[in-house]
Formats: sequence, structure tokens, C-alpha cells
Amino acid sequence: MDRKVRLKKDLKEKQEQVNIILDRYLPRKDEYPKNTHKALRYSVFAGGKRLRPYLTMCAYQMYQENVEQITPVAAAIEMLHTFSLIHDDMPDIDNDEYRRGKKSCHALFGEGEALLAGDALLISAFELITYAEIKAEHRVQFVRELAEQCGVKGLIAGQMVDLESEGKKVDKKTIDYIHKNKTAKLIQLCLRFGAVAGGAPKDELAAIEDFGAKIGLAFQIVDDLLDIEGDPDEMGKTVGKDAHVHKATYPSVYGLAESKRRAQELISEAKAAIAPLGEKALMLDILADYLLTRKS
Ligand code: IPE
Ligand code: IPE
Ligand code: MG
Ligand code: MG
Ligand code: MG
Repeated sequence: MDRKVRLKKDLKEKQEQVNIILDRYLPRKDEYPKNTHKALRYSVFAGGKRLRPYLTMCAYQMYQENVEQITPVAAAIEMLHTFSLIHDDMPDIDNDEYRRGKKSCHALFGEGEALLAGDALLISAFELITYAEIKAEHRVQFVRELAEQCGVKGLIAGQMVDLESEGKKVDKKTIDYIHKNKTAKLIQLCLRFGAVAGGAPKDELAAIEDFGAKIGLAFQIVDDLLDIEGDPDEMGKTVGKDAHVHKATYPSVYGLAESKRRAQELISEAKAAIAPLGEKALMLDILADYLLTRKS
């Protein structure tokens, strides 16, 4: 099968599996208090690539055939990711009215509702992990590591520096810090969770994490590039906004050509990191190529 077709099929299958868990776990939209539940369901099911859950499930599947046990962990990560998008779009952060091809959460439901819907998704993500039928020690470990990588030592820190860098000229060290923290750490962690729960040997886990750090950084560089060169309809979000508000982005610090070169280089390095793992890393290899050419 053609590599692209294979990825599309696998992505679709896993998206469906994650969506089933999300649908089962999240409160119904008519449950009291309706507005939070409606808002959080709206954002979770607005569409979205489900890249992060896909990474967790793929890494797990390198060692275990059936992804059923890891799917709640994957779904929890998607909830946390969706929280980060809802809050990222809010007026005091990026002020974006368009997300996943639809109105952003606060634009449709109001700021208070969006704030709480995001909070609920973030908090409930940790609860969902505790229900996963994986080893008890992994449940505790994953809750701790997710909190570490997404809290003040990770995603929130990255978002904070991103926010305070708006309109300023930042250096390479700062932009690397922002991208690593706001985006790459969670992407790397997705792979780590799948590999750890799957039972990856130490050296292979290290290779998968190395792959994760590299595609994670490349992912945010490509996101910055798409904000310049992407099509808003395909992306489902606003483009041109980063330059307009003088965001600290990779292209704004390194230039367009160098950013493209760096994204390509990171993807090559990521692929090289997992090459020794052979056939079982095929889907990750295909995915890495897709991340470079993605249009949304
Ligand atoms: C957007 O993430 C936020 C970034 C870290 C750049 P995605 O591009 O994965 O968004 P969805 O989940 O597909 O909507
Ligand atoms: C956000 O980066 C990363 C998050 C942690 C939410 P961006 O602000 O560039 O993401 P988009 O472009 O709004 O999706
Ligand atoms: Mg942002
Ligand atoms: Mg944004
Ligand atoms: Mg962006």
C-alpha cells in the first residue's frame, strides 16, 4: 500500500477509536450545567487531527497488538490538548475567533464558559488516565509526567514566554524555549507514554523519545510556516495572524528559508533516530514525512 494511503487509513481508524472513548467519557451536552458540557464537547468534536493520541497509540502498537488499553490515555491527552487550544484562542492570549474550521469556543459560548470548559478538560484528563487498564504504576507515572510536562515546567511555561514575547524581538534561545515547551514536550510525551505502556526496551524508548523531541519542534516550526503560507480553509484557523501581532515565531527569528531548512533537518534526524528500530517503526517514519508536507 502507498505510504500516504496507509497513514490516512491508520489515522482514521485510530481517530475513531479515540473519539469513541471521548464520547463515552465526556458528560452529555444536555447534562446539568449544560453550557460547560456543550462548550467542551463542541471544541473536542470540532474536528482536529488527533495527532497526539495517534502518536501514543502508534508507539504502543510497536510492542502490543491491541490498542484498547492505551486508548483512554490517548484520549486524555487529546482532552488536555483541546484545553490548551481553547485557552490559547482567548482574547487575552491569541485572540483567535476560528479554530478547527469553526468558531472558537469563547467566540461561540462566551469567555467565562470557554475558560471553564478548558479547565474541565484539563482536570478531567488526569481523571481519565486513572481509569486506563494499564499497570497501576504506569497510571501514577503518567499522571505525574503529564502534569510536569504541561505545567509550569512545560506547556504553561512555553505559553507564558510566548505571550510575553509578543511584539518583542527575541533571540534564538528564547524561541527554541517557547517551541520546545509549548508544543514539543507534549508531543514527545505522547510517544513516551505509548512506548512505556507497551513495554519498550530502554534503548528503543530513548530512540522513540528522541524522535518525539525532534518531530515536536518541527511540528511547531511547520505551524509557524503555515501561518504564513497556509490556506485558512484547509487549516481551519486564522492565518497571517502571527506577523500581524508580532508573535515570536521561528520564521520571525530565523527567517523563512532557514525555518524550512530546520524543519526538514529535524524530520530527517527524527527518522534517523528510529531507523534502527526497523519495520515496527514504519508508521512513525511515514508520519514524520507527513508532518513536513501537511497543509492543516
Ligand atoms: C495546534 O495543534 C496547536 C499547536 C501546537 C501548533 P494541532 O495542529 O495538532 O491542532 P488540531 O488538534 O489538529 O486542531
Ligand atoms: C499554540 O501555538 C500551542 C499551544 C500550546 C496551544 P499557536 O498559538 O501557534 O497555535 P495555533 O496556531 O493557535 O494553533
Ligand atoms: Mg499561541
Ligand atoms: Mg494560537
Ligand atoms: Mg500557530
